[in-house]
Amino acid sequence: MGRNLCHFCFLSFFVTLTVAESKWNILNQRTRNGMKISLKNYCESWRMNVELHNIREFQVVPEECIGYVGKYVTSTQYKVDSERAIEESIVYLSTSCTLKNDGRDVWIFDIDDTLLSTVPYYKGHHFGGEKLNLTALEEWMSHGKAPALEHSLKLFNEIKARGLHIILVSSRREHLRSATINNLLHVGFYGWTSLILRGPEDEVKGVQDFKADVRKKLTVGGYRVWGILGDQYSSIDGLPRAKRTFKLPNPLYYVS
Ligand SMILES: *[C@@H]1O[C@H](CO)[C@@H](O)[C@H](O)[C@H]1NC(C)=O
Repeated sequence: MGRNLCHFCFLSFFVTLTVAESKWNILNQRTRNGMKISLKNYCESWRMNVELHNIREFQVVPEECIGYVGKYVTSTQYKVDSERAIEESIVYLSTSCTLKNDGRDVWIFDIDDTLLSTVPYYKGHHFGGEKLNLTALEEWMSHGKAPALEHSLKLFNEIKARGLHIILVSSRREHLRSATINNLLHVGFYGWTSLILRGPEDEVKGVQDFKADVRKKLTVGGYRVWGILGDQYSSIDGLPRAKRTFKLPNPLYYVS
């Protein structure tokens, strides 16, 4: 009994120590010049710098920000941020695109977290706070149950109505083609011209090069890429460029 009690004492001492230590790490965070900041300050700044592309190549969401990121991607703010990106795309379409309507006007979309949401998957995987398990992610994708990002659907339909060709370019692999098509159609994305996925020969190059090569082929073929909507810099960076690009927020993962 005495021994058990002592065991308990030791445990509670250890737990207190751990909590105190994590408090020191997180709640008493200070910037380099000594300014006291909250966990929310810290994580919001992390997310902002991901979006600004100052933070690159992150493998996982920082552990202390998993809660923050989870809240954000399921929040009204995430929807408002996305909707704003879509509204700006529509402004650009209406004011700055002098379409020729000769069958060579093109718009490019990403799929994951641009047209379809992977948030339901990441909900079950610490909102990006654990290393990507491609097998598990592809298994989830193969069920074709990803919900649409509603604001993106609005832009998709607007672009379709204006007569541009819609090209979907995704780093999803070829074996997911039919699941992807079924998923897209099921949630309302139909009428696109082509779906370009990564074949085995594309897997050796990075996603950015794969996507830039698609634009190169289009450009060489005389197509005008008026815009891209994507959630990753690898979808919009690289040559040749689209005339304009629009980025949706995504603090869950980084694809290079
Ligand atoms: C990855 O996911 C698969 C399928 O769910 C699972 O069998 C496997 O154990 C996971 N691997 C790791 C390293 O967690």
